[in-house]
Amino acid sequence: MKVTSKICMTKDVGTNGNLFGGNMLAWMDEAAAIFAQQITGRNVVSVRFAEIIFKKPVRQDDIIEFYCEKIKQGHTSVTFDIFAVVKDEEVFRTECTFVAVDNNGRKTPIEWPAEK
Ligand SMILES: CC(C)(COP(=O)(O)OP(=O)(O)OC[C@H]1O[C@@H](n2cnc3c(N)ncnc32)[C@H](O)[C@@H]1OP(=O)(O)O)[C@@H](O)C(=O)NCCC(=O)NCCS
Repeated sequence: MKVTSKICMTKDVGTNGNLFGGNMLAWMDEAAAIFAQQITGRNVVSVRFAEIIFKKPVRQDDIIEFYCEKIKQGHTSVTFDIFAVVKDEEVFRTECTFVAVDNNGRKTPIEWPAEK
C-alpha cells in the first residue's frame, strides 16, 4: 500500500545533482514507521533494516512515492518490504522489521486483526 510521498527539493540534492542518500534514508525510516504504527496500532521502534538498494538516481523536482508490503506478522514484530517509486519506476528498496513497544520502550504483543 502507498504510505506517503516526498518531493526532492534543492536542499535535498547532494554534490553530484542527485538526491542525497541520507535524505532518502530518513524519509524511508519515517514512511516505514508510519506504516508499522498504522498496521500494528502500537508505538514501534525499528530493529532491523536489510540491504539497502539505490536502484536509480532521483533528481530535483522528482516526486518520490513510498510503498510498504507486509511480509511477516510476528508476536511483537512486523517485517515488511519498503520501496520508493518515481514516475512509475522503482528507485529504492529494502526490507525492515519493527517491534511494538510499551511506554517504557519494552517489547509488547501485537493484537493482529483476524485475517479475512
Ligand atoms: C527493539 C527492542 C525493543 C527489542 O527488544 P528485545 O527485548 O531485545 O526483543 P527480542 O530480541 O525478544 O525481539 C523482539 C522481536 O523482534 C524480533 N527481532 C529482534 N531482533 C531482530 C533482528 N535482528 N531481525 C529481525 N527481527 C528481530 C524478534 O524476532 C522478536 O519478534 P517476535 O516477537 O515477533 O517473534 C530493543 O532491541 C530496542 O529497544 N532496540 C532499539 C530500537 C531503536 O532504538 N530503534 C531506532 C529508533 S526507533
